[in-house]
This record gives sequence, structure tokens and C-alpha cells, in this order.
Amino acid sequence: MIKGRIFSGMQPSGKFHLGNYLGALDNWVKLQQNYECFFSIVDWHALTSSYENTENLQQNIFDMALDWLSAGLDPEKNVIFVQSHVKEHAELHLLLSMMTPLSWLERVPTYKDKLQQLGIQGKDINTYGFMGYPELMTADIVLYKADTVPVGEDQLPHLELSREIVRRFNHLYRPIFPEPKPYLSKASLLPGIDGRKMSKSYGNEIPFAASPDELRDRVRQMVTDPQRVKKTDPGNPNVCTVYTFHKIFSQDQVGEIAKCCREATIGCVACKKRLAEQMVSALADIHTRRRSLEANPGKVKEILTFGAERARVVAAATMEEVRQAMNL
Ligand code: AMP
Ligand code: TRP
Repeated sequence: MIKGRIFSGMQPSGKFHLGNYLGALDNWVKLQQNYECFFSIVDWHALTSSYENTENLQQNIFDMALDWLSAGLDPEKNVIFVQSHVKEHAELHLLLSMMTPLSWLERVPTYKDKLQQLGIQGKDINTYGFMGYPELMTADIVLYKADTVPVGEDQLPHLELSREIVRRFNHLYRPIFPEPKPYLSKASLLPGIDGRKMSKSYGNEIPFAASPDELRDRVRQMVTDPQRVKKTDPGNPNVCTVYTFHKIFSQDQVGEIAKCCREATIGCVACKKRLAEQMVSALADIHTRRRSLEANPGKVKEILTFGAERARVVAAATMEEVRQAMNL
């Protein structure tokens, strides 16, 4: 049974990691069974904060397509496309911007936070485009009349703004757009190898595209219980990053692993080796699919072209309605 229509997007801003996969993409792979889905690689969004260096943009888009397809997003079942291939996003963004009060954009909590945060890193994002980030996001979603938007918690203020813009449009002209609601994934934040939240900016990530040897190498570097100095010291699995990963990748063995750790009958080195092999086998199919897609970039390009064609049909129909409603 189809429960509704989904739109979601991700910025092609660099290397995709296991936290992104377990926190977001894996959820999309599940949702594709029950929803009509539009998934977009939002390259224009990437420009809102990285407009000055676009050298790697095409490579990042290609890598993101590989990530999505190898994770199991089905390009027949879902509409998978690159935002900038469907120009209607830009037209709707422009029209919605006419009726969005500046104060609504200024009070989005992520706006001032990011402005400050990126300012510290020396990035000048005091731009029109950056302030319009959630405006563009709104255009993305409502262009397909999506009612459900799977996102992380950090995106909730953006969706609240989207609903306000939708209400304003529907009130000013006529009710065309449904109010989009968020769909939060239940996955908790995945730590990186140093125990902090896995994030590209900390350098503690495990790349989603890691080869088996890279996986083993990253697991070897993981922090464990700092109190457990010698192999004979009893450990506390609850403060151990390796154990957090075992809970995800070795679900049928966690009881035994915790017990062995507490009783010091397994050492951290062996425990890590066990985890690495579990991860290698859990990610083996994804890895194989990736290798074969990587060897066939023409096919990946074809998938994105096909996706953009399908997206354009829906987007064009919505824009017809919008232009009529606004007397354009
Ligand atoms: P980002 O690239 O950090 O904007 O994240 C893209 C998506 O991945 C968002 O939906 C985040 O909620 C999710 N995500 C990022 N880092 C993690 C993490 N360490 N654990 C779980 N989910 C994450
Ligand atoms: N802002 C989202 C993020 O960083 C990406 C995004 C762009 C998006 N447009 C969207 C998400 C539309 C959901 C719907 O995660």
C-alpha cells in the first residue's frame, strides 16, 4: 500500500560516511517500499555555502549517486535525480521568494548558527543564496506536492518554515500545495572512531565507500574503554565505541561480547577484529554493487538522466498550476 509521497535530498558536499548511511540513507531504502519517492542530489544547495570552489562538484555528484544506488535505492521504483537538471526548482524558488518575509528567513535558528560557525572557518556566506537555503528546500518539496519528508532533526526548523510558506501561498492564490510533514528516522547518532559524533569535520569518519581493508584499518583505530589499560582489566562495554558498533553489526552476539569484555576474557584487539569482519560481511553486497557501478559511469549517468526526465514531468505540471494561480 502506498502511504504518500516523499521528497528528500542530500548535498553532494564530499565523502559520504557510515553515519549518513545509518542515520538517513538506510531509512530511505526502507521507505521506498511504501511511498512514492523523489530523491534528489541537491547540487544548488551545495553552492549556498561552497560557491567559490566548484572544482569537485561533478565528482561529488557522481559519488553520491554511487552511494545511493549501491545502498539499494532502486532507480526504477524511485525518481532519483540531480536538482539542477530540473530547472523548475529555480522558478518555483523565485516565485516563493516573492511572498516570503525576510524576517521568517532571519529567524530560522540554523541560519544564524551556521552563519557564525562557517564565518569562523573563514567562509563568507553573508549571501542572498545562503539566506534562501530553506526557501529552495521548500521549492524542492512542494514542486512534487510531497507530503512526507524524511530528514534529520536539524532540518525541522526548515520544514516548519516550508509549512508557513505553503499556507501563505495557498491563502494568497489557491490551495495547490499540501503542508509537508517531517519523518524522523529512529536511528541514533553514530559515533566516529574517536567516540564523538561521526562527522567529516572531525576527521573521525568511516567512509561509506571504504574497502574491506580500509574498514579493518578504521576499526583498528577505534577508541575503547579508556579505563581498560591491560587485557586482563575488566572493561565497560557501555563506554566503548567498538561495542556501540557491535550493537549495530553483531546484534546476535552482543550479549556474549559484553560479558567477555566485563570478564576480560576477550581483549580489545580480538574484539575489534571480530567487529571488522562483521562489518566487512554486512557491507559486502554494497561494496560489490559499488564496484560494478563504478566501472560503468555511463550507466550511472543514464540513471540520472532518466530520473530527471521523470521528475520534470511532475514538476512541469505543478508549475502550470502555479503560473495559472498567479496569473503569469
Ligand atoms: P550531513 O551531511 O551532516 O548534513 O548529514 C546528512 C544526513 O546524515 C542527515 O540526515 C544527518 O542526520 C545524518 N547524519 C550525519 N551524521 C550522522 C551521524 N554521525 N549519525 C547518524 N546520522 C548522521
Ligand atoms: N537541507 C537538507 C540537508 O542538509 C538537504 C535538502 C535539500 C532537503 N532540499 C531538501 C531535504 C528537501 C529534504 C527535502 O539534509
